[in-house]
Amino acid sequence: KAPRKNKSARLARIAKQVESCRRCRQHTSGNAVIGEGSSDPEVVFVGEAPGRMEAESGRPFVGRAGQWLRRAIQRIGLDENSVYLTNALKYRPAHGKPSQAAIAHGRIHLLQQLDVLDPRIIVLLGSAACLSVLGERVVIRKRHGSVIERNGRIYLITSHPSAARFPAIGKTARQDFEKLKQLVSLPQQTKARGATPQAPRDRRRARRSRSTRAARASPARKVPAERAK
Ligand code: URA
Repeated sequence: KAPRKNKSARLARIAKQVESCRRCRQHTSGNAVIGEGSSDPEVVFVGEAPGRMEAESGRPFVGRAGQWLRRAIQRIGLDENSVYLTNALKYRPAHGKPSQAAIAHGRIHLLQQLDVLDPRIIVLLGSAACLSVLGERVVIRKRHGSVIERNGRIYLITSHPSAARFPAIGKTARQDFEKLKQLVSLPQQTKARGATPQAPRDRRRARRSRSTRAARASPARKVPAERAK
């Protein structure tokens, strides 16, 4: 793993690039919202785009949806300073929903951030985050709660927190966060890249118990491991 100091410097470089990126700023309003949290997080949350409050303050998830998200994070026992919060887009779209082109462009910066942060788990909050990170159109209603493993990373699909104000979605989103709680408590070895060397027998045993635990964490849908794009 890269040292934390090194990571902070690399994140600061990405922030500078975003702040001077003319394409990012097109058809948007307000300040850039790069992201905040630990530079060495186990979990990264990816939303859609900054809202009004975020564009004013330059901080992600500080409005109503953000408060829901931060509460949900705390509820499952995670410290919000130990995770990282960011978005598919770094500026507030002037016309509400982000365009496909804006998501495609924002992806460049987001993937750079994820490369530096190198989390074990990425929570995709809504369809814009899924399109950006997985490169797939996802119907959240059908796929929320899915756990996807790619290249040693775990992706959990859930609703955008702004939809959680609808009671039915709020309920399923809370269930998705319970699943996240289980994923967080799985042993570190789930991340193949960071695996600590083990004796062959231990490794077999760990693999066995890991897959039972993972199956328990994701009973609804089995998504085959795919290669990242
Ligand atoms: N919604 C998002 O997707 N991101 C924010 O930062 C705030 C609201």
